Amino acid sequence: MLPQAARIVETQRENANTRTFVFDAHWRARPGQFLMAWLPRFDEKPFSLVDDDPVTITVAAVGPFTRLLHRLEPGDRVWLRGPLGRGFRPEGQRMLLVGGGYGSAPLDFLARRAKNAAITAVIGARTAADLLFVERLARSGADVQVTTEDGSAGEKGLVTAVVEPLLARGGFDALYACGPHGMLAALEALARRHRVPAQLSWEAYMRCGLGLCGSCEHQGRVLCLEGPVLSFNNCSSRGRSFTRHV
Ligand SMILES: Cc1cc2nc3c(=O)[nH]c(=O)nc-3n(C[C@H](O)[C@H](O)[C@H](O)COP(=O)(O)OP(=O)(O)OC[C@H]3O[C@@H](n4cnc5c(N)ncnc54)[C@H](O)[C@@H]3O)c2cc1C
Ligand code: FES
Repeated sequence: MLPQAARIVETQRENANTRTFVFDAHWRARPGQFLMAWLPRFDEKPFSLVDDDPVTITVAAVGPFTRLLHRLEPGDRVWLRGPLGRGFRPEGQRMLLVGGGYGSAPLDFLARRAKNAAITAVIGARTAADLLFVERLARSGADVQVTTEDGSAGEKGLVTAVVEPLLARGGFDALYACGPHGMLAALEALARRHRVPAQLSWEAYMRCGLGLCGSCEHQGRVLCLEGPVLSFNNCSSRGRSFTRHV
């Protein structure tokens, strides 16, 4: 899959460190799928799709590539490859979405696609200034709960402090999450304990995005092809039972 040039048509500041980029590209993709963005003579990096029509990504400035991307403006070109990987599959009518950091971005795409479902979203960040997509998720119809590590907004602490009682109360058909590995590992344990099916979007260092270089292996899986979303169904198995899906 060759990169296609796309022009930025709009940028939007989401918080102090994060911008959303809308491109003049129109794809058909599933929430949780990602693209590779290439800046010629510099580098190519993966980003989750926030929308497919028009293609939209939300980028946190954390290093050289993302800082350069943040300096681009409407009219500038970026080369895009995608959609890549396997995304979320909305299942059931009562969905629990959990996002940490820029992990909330693909969850809003999921919430918009999961028409007619009752959605509860738990969004976590270090501080109130780092929260992402809380208003967007509320506009998408989700009942949004917020946690911050410093207590500057919502419940003080980690998302798991809010998710655990929600799962214990019951009533969710599945849990969907995207965020840092530590958060996903904790959510996986909670989902297994409460026997709730889960779809977790795992990040890895990605170079080719095509299953060729091996840099994205996680728990024996090539995440750019088999993930980034891995799902398991706790209801039918007690063991480690991740399944791939299309
Ligand atoms: C499937 C997928 C979807 C992604 N979606 C988004 C998104 O929607 N928005 C967004 O802002 N970023 C996203 N990322 C992460 C983004 O691709 C990286 O942060 C990228 O490396 C940034 O490039 P950089 O040159 O700016 O910083 P780098 O110098 O590459 O990285 C900055 C810091 O982040 C760490 N880091 C980089 N990549 C990873 C990783 N995969 N896992 C753990 N630590 C890492 C590095 O070790 C370094 O400390 C995604 C990554 C993957 C694999
Ligand atoms: S990024 Fe190369 S194999 Fe997955």
